[in-house]
Amino acid sequence: MVEPFADLFKESAVFANREVLSPHYVPKHLLFRERQINEIEKSLTPSLRGERGRNVFIYGKTGTGKTSCIKHVVDKVRELPIIKAKITYVNCRIYNSRYRVLSKIASDHIPQYAKRGYGITDIYEKIINWIEEDGKILVVVLDELDIVRDLDDLIYTLTRSNSDIKSGGVTIIGVSNKISFKEVLDPRSLSTLYENEFVFPPYNSEELAAIIKDRVASGFKPNVVDPACVNLAAAIAAKDSGDARLALKIITKAGEIADNKNQSSVGVNEITEAAKFAEEEIAYEVIGMLPEHQKLIVYAIALMSITGGRYKKLDENNDSFLLSGEIYSRYNSIVESLHKDVKTTRLYRRYIADLEMQGIIISHESGKGIRGHTKLIKLSYQPEKIKEMIEKNLFKEN
Ligand SMILES: Nc1ncnc2c1ncn2[C@@H]1O[C@H](COP(=O)(O)OP(=O)(O)OP(=O)(O)O)[C@@H](O)[C@H]1O
Ligand SMILES: [Mg+2]
Repeated sequence: MVEPFADLFKESAVFANREVLSPHYVPKHLLFRERQINEIEKSLTPSLRGERGRNVFIYGKTGTGKTSCIKHVVDKVRELPIIKAKITYVNCRIYNSRYRVLSKIASDHIPQYAKRGYGITDIYEKIINWIEEDGKILVVVLDELDIVRDLDDLIYTLTRSNSDIKSGGVTIIGVSNKISFKEVLDPRSLSTLYENEFVFPPYNSEELAAIIKDRVASGFKPNVVDPACVNLAAAIAAKDSGDARLALKIITKAGEIADNKNQSSVGVNEITEAAKFAEEEIAYEVIGMLPEHQKLIVYAIALMSITGGRYKKLDENNDSFLLSGEIYSRYNSIVESLHKDVKTTRLYRRYIADLEMQGIIISHESGKGIRGHTKLIKLSYQPEKIKEMIEKNLFKEN
């Protein structure tokens, strides 16, 4: 008879510490980010001295280490001996409105005012009074700030507070992987946020290999992972996106596959198998979280990738790329069939830029000759799978 949950207590032959492989783990040492960490710290120096510093905006593709670096800096600031700067880290996926962000600030620093029932003006005044007590500098880190519903109001409130505060001040550090939201912001909020901008570049395959190697050393048992596996996982992730999260997901998944096969080592086969899983899993997560119209654009691209666009007939070598304009027409007809309002071409272009930033599509400008200059677009994942996933997600739920 098979013991129920026997696997639950079986010791893994490959993993030494699963925790360090989790996507939420913040490593002690962040490789290749010394310069970025230094720059962020430098920009915070005035705040730590008790003067209002310049706001910072951190921008970079997914998996480039933005959250890890900023959390690293936040932890360091918190460890400093008594200073007037007080820091709050806000994950805007959870705190996604001005009210929630202000409540989070209050609950971090003045717990008695974090109770439910306070109006926004009350919370705002409490925060201002708390800052003025001894001229504090409040540093607010807004991670994934593009998700905040009333971002303009939030930025305006935080910035305006500086003219309401008699002594002390507020500094904002914004973090995002979306470029397009710049256009949504009021120009005033935009110039406030962009006083200082840092860009995090994607990792190349050598960097990813070093990041994986470092994590394998603490997450896996010794000599379980062949060095060739590390390089292969890094090469796959570098080619795809330069995303460290994907690289780590591949190696972790490969470990799970080896475990399931009762193997005591991870080989190249497991990496290849894991890469497929990991990419799909990431695609599901990312696409599942897209706003409706971006999902519909991806849906149009998936449908057209299956049937083939017109460009296919023009150039057999480039058969998998679709014309941006053709996608827009297909998206329009889908939206109309759902009796929804079509978004303008301006918004459409912004969505396309976002989808590319998130690694869902790849695009390049056509050379001269194909309808002048146009964008050629390709889906990064298998269109059949994406089609099925979006149909489940969008059409079958209600
Ligand atoms: N320089 C690095 N050294 C070690 N691990 C890293 C490094 N950069 C990223 N990682 C790891 O990669 C994963 C993704 O990093 P992180 O969450 O910081 O990315 P991000 O830029 O915030 O991505 P997103 O835009 O999707 O929020 C994390 O598990 C993190 O531990
Ligand atoms: Mg992040």
